[in-house]
Amino acid sequence: MLTMNMNYKNLKESYLFAEIGEKVRTYQREHPGEHIYRLGIGDVSLPLPCTVIKALHRAVDDQAFRESFHGYMPECGADFLREAVRRYYGERGIELSSDEVFISSGASDELGDIQDLFDRSTAALLPEPAYPAYYDACVMAGRRVEHLKTVRERDFLPEPEGRLDAGLIYICSPNNPTGAVYGRELLRDWVDFARAKGSVIIFDAAYEAFIDDDSLPKSIFEIEGARECAIEICSLSKTAGFTGTRLGYTIIPKALERNGMSLNAMWRRNRTTKTNGVSYIIQRGGEAVFSPEGQQEIRKNILVYKKNAREIMRAIDDSGLWYCGGDNSPYIWMECPFNMKSREFFDFLLNRAQVVGTPGVGFGAAGEGYFRLSAFGSPEDTREACSRLRSVLRT
Ligand code: MLT
Repeated sequence: MLTMNMNYKNLKESYLFAEIGEKVRTYQREHPGEHIYRLGIGDVSLPLPCTVIKALHRAVDDQAFRESFHGYMPECGADFLREAVRRYYGERGIELSSDEVFISSGASDELGDIQDLFDRSTAALLPEPAYPAYYDACVMAGRRVEHLKTVRERDFLPEPEGRLDAGLIYICSPNNPTGAVYGRELLRDWVDFARAKGSVIIFDAAYEAFIDDDSLPKSIFEIEGARECAIEICSLSKTAGFTGTRLGYTIIPKALERNGMSLNAMWRRNRTTKTNGVSYIIQRGGEAVFSPEGQQEIRKNILVYKKNAREIMRAIDDSGLWYCGGDNSPYIWMECPFNMKSREFFDFLLNRAQVVGTPGVGFGAAGEGYFRLSAFGSPEDTREACSRLRSVLRT
């Protein structure tokens, strides 16, 4: 007899960004010719850096000749890319071995897939508001979720409390959706908590490249003891423009063990069974990101997005509304004006100003009354969106 995964019945009908995409398409059908200013989903607007494009072209040509052709790639990643990521961490004082680096097709895939390592009886602790894919992946797996409420006075960054009990802890810094960044001390508290409880932290570092402030940690492995309790999941999507190209990496230290099992060895076993690796061409493009030229070029792009973020912050400053994020992050998390609910403000902004953002409630109940704006749009669109936002907020 076949039984379906009934956990799907516990999911919302559609995923947050699919729902918003659908609403925007409907609006566009009803208002043909109107330009929409997209500050919703965090999709990049700048093209891939020139060094990456050249590397991709070279890799395509490699595939044309018997001597340089590549078939199946190593499931956990090509040595040249694992080594490039290892060096990237090494430059920041974090010593890894290249077999602690796993190449992936992006962070969003890994953040859910990594749950394969943990029994379904292991509950997950999700600070709220949170990136919705964490919650959905837990629900699909039939995993119990503990929502950790946070407060605006602390920019929605959660603190560990002794009473909390969950095997898996999702932490995202710089945070999606709030844009707030965990300080060194707070992250140390979480690492100490996880070690004391025997939990494992899944650290989502997809936006680390937006941190300019050297006092803030970009990687959880900057914190002592994190190798014994954390997995770090990262992506080239927002850092280097790979949202459509798909590439990321996951760090699982060999020192991370639970129930006498090595999580690094388990993930290698998982990947060798469930994937045939990322394509040779894309991995060569990823290698170019970590070259000195690649790093310079991605930095230029990130600065464009950071300027957009400042533009958005200035527009909200004028209104006197509360917000956080934007300084070391591409996201700005603002309170909705006029006591509106977040979906109400989404409709209002789209209809009045043709600006798309993301309703806070889509990131969990604690996000009700808040709204996320993304700095990944083009500078022209962001400028115009900000001027429209200003006039709407004055209404
Ligand atoms: C977001 O807007 O939160 C992200 O772009 C979505 C994602 O990375 O999957």
